[in-house]
Amino acid sequence: MKKYFSTRIINRVIPLCVVVLLPFNKVLAQTKTEDTKMNVFVTGLINKMTIDEKIGQLNLVTIGAATTGSVVNKGVEDKIKKGAIGGVFGIWGADKVKEVQDLATKSTRLHIPLIFGLDVIHGHRTIFPIPLGLSASWDMGLIKRSAQIAAKEATAEGLNWVYSPMVDIARDARWGRISEGSGEDPWYGSQVAKAMIQGYQGSSMKNADAVMACVKHFALYGGAEAGREYNTVDMSRIKMYQDYLPPYRAAVDAGAGSFMSSFNTIDGVPATGNQWLLTDVLRKQWGFKGFVVSDYTAVNEMEAHGLGDLQMVSALALKAGLDMDMVGEGFLTTLKKSLAEGKVTKQEIDLACRRVLEAKYKLGLFDNPYKSIDATRETKDVLTPENRSEARNISKHSFVLLKNSAQTLPLKKTGSIALVGPLANNQRDMLGTWVVAGDWEKSISVMQGIKNLVGNGVTINYAKGANITEDSSFIQRLNFFGQQMVTVDKKPADELLNEAVEAAKKSDVIVAVVGESQSMSGESSSRADIDIPESQKNMLKALAKTGKPLVIVLFNGRPLTLTWEDEHASAILDVWAPGTEAGNAIADVLFGDYNPAGKITATFPRSVGQIPIYYNHKNTGRPYDGKGPSKFKSNYLDISNDPLYPFGYGLSYTTFGYSDVKLNKTKLKGTETLTATVTVTNTGKYAGEEVVQLYISDPVASISRSVKELKNFKKINLQPGEQKEVSFNITPEELKFYNTQLKYDWEPGKFIVQIGTNSSDTHSASVQWDK
Ligand code: BGC
Repeated sequence: MKKYFSTRIINRVIPLCVVVLLPFNKVLAQTKTEDTKMNVFVTGLINKMTIDEKIGQLNLVTIGAATTGSVVNKGVEDKIKKGAIGGVFGIWGADKVKEVQDLATKSTRLHIPLIFGLDVIHGHRTIFPIPLGLSASWDMGLIKRSAQIAAKEATAEGLNWVYSPMVDIARDARWGRISEGSGEDPWYGSQVAKAMIQGYQGSSMKNADAVMACVKHFALYGGAEAGREYNTVDMSRIKMYQDYLPPYRAAVDAGAGSFMSSFNTIDGVPATGNQWLLTDVLRKQWGFKGFVVSDYTAVNEMEAHGLGDLQMVSALALKAGLDMDMVGEGFLTTLKKSLAEGKVTKQEIDLACRRVLEAKYKLGLFDNPYKSIDATRETKDVLTPENRSEARNISKHSFVLLKNSAQTLPLKKTGSIALVGPLANNQRDMLGTWVVAGDWEKSISVMQGIKNLVGNGVTINYAKGANITEDSSFIQRLNFFGQQMVTVDKKPADELLNEAVEAAKKSDVIVAVVGESQSMSGESSSRADIDIPESQKNMLKALAKTGKPLVIVLFNGRPLTLTWEDEHASAILDVWAPGTEAGNAIADVLFGDYNPAGKITATFPRSVGQIPIYYNHKNTGRPYDGKGPSKFKSNYLDISNDPLYPFGYGLSYTTFGYSDVKLNKTKLKGTETLTATVTVTNTGKYAGEEVVQLYISDPVASISRSVKELKNFKKINLQPGEQKEVSFNITPEELKFYNTQLKYDWEPGKFIVQIGTNSSDTHSASVQWDK
């Protein structure tokens, strides 16, 4: 037992078949019966519990060294036996989990099982692209599939709760956690949230291969000032409701079992102790029925926020609607005293305890605490060839072709390539941030992937060419956990660079694999400068001078500033951090076995000074005219307002032509439906997929609206020369917004329907829609 505690850790659904078979009222009746059964069970259990046992259920601990904070729990084994722990995170593996579950079910008075959580963020053992990359696929089927596989692998290793999806809207690329979400758009983020939750929770959380999702970070975490991690968030209520809260709400509607509070303040009150947020919005307005856990020591951190001592902030959090305390043990150590002093009530403790027990009930843990602890599944369901093959497919769908001049890509499967850059012959950085149980030694490097695909057909002239960075203090920070996350080649930078240039000179084309290493994005990885680090840029500059076609394969956990690269490279393929099958998926795309179709879900700025930059901004009273800086307009003296690559942008090896937008009517009334249609033609030489995007503008309203908002998209597949009509049905639902009274409704008037290949390049038509 002991050895596991010392292990170092590195790093509502109604069953679908029932819906199909039974009429709605029967389904409702069945759900009610299940709820009644759960209530009877949980009430019976609570009635038997002492106050200590109830408070114990609210205590979540981690076993082992921490990845995300400096505090680690102590005396866990004894506490479990005393019933002072409700859940554990940080261990996985059937044997280990079983041993810890045994402590709870065999040694405690009431035998209440533990819930086992982990940061399964983009895969468990088989790692998929980082979430920002996954979102660039614009493929909800694939996104859901990645979550299903993650759930299957996680349950095979004893887990039943995952700290995902992260649905925080992020419009600031300096914030390292932009990598963990689905970008800047509330509507799109809501679709992804739903797909992930369906994937994790399946048709029933009682299934052996389903986990409970934990939606995070509630709320607005991505709005941190200056893109600085854990920083203050302050925004208007309209902005919250219109732009930041929708994905969390979509997660509630999709039946998410749990939520995690965020570290930041909202209207001055930390989210973790914010009654308006956790009770009024989440439960009363949205009807959330699950439980809320704090983020890592977030209860304790309310002390540093200036809200009082541990007893005070713990009471505040409980009263606000927080049910479980992660790691900090403020609930465990102070709630009983607060109860005695009348600072919290027995009902408040009972309610939080009830919600935690209900989660365990919904997971089927009272029927079988060992339901996902099955050593045979661990050997047959994890990192299987099938999972890897799905990962390869999902990865290539996430890549975004940012530039491709003179059809440099795809490459021929003959001749020679100079394969250069610190990420070219590298396995660790293929996985990206948050890969707690992912094993980088199982990942495919770019070099290996190319060899696997083209064998001896292509001569590879390899040179590292540059270290990730030459800045030693930066390297020290990247190696924060005492692990060698970044390995540095001791050769002088010039020598490395010359080797790359020599490799380039004897090759037909250069493939430079550059960008951010694993620890450069994710939690606690904000950057003030979002360029490719200087050492790598110097190498790219030297390579560009050789005159050979320069293909950049870009690794990045965030939008980077790529103006130089856009000007000088022949092609740029953004692969984010693709996961276990990185190299194979990259080779598939580089050599044309798959034609890339991803589109970015976060705007790429020209300069960090443009941040926050996002497509659905306001017009202002002095709008920028799109023609460059001019006096007394909302723009910059030194730079255009335009992004380098707009939201929804991404190229293909083929080209697509769009017709004008055809509308079935131009005057509508009330709840009528508008149909907007375009014809899309594949005008190039390759078969390819295109994400056809629908945006709507509301130019006259009671408040100043965004210049446009994404409302739908369709992904189509076209053979060369083929044409398809793509139609969108639009109802008043798509016209609604939050007004100054925070009423969600639409206002009659003119609307502009825009359809196109990205948020900047659209065809439009307008309608008059009266109430
Ligand atoms: C992060 C969460 C994570 C938790 C548990 C925190 O530091 O903000 O996203 O789920 O740690 O590891």
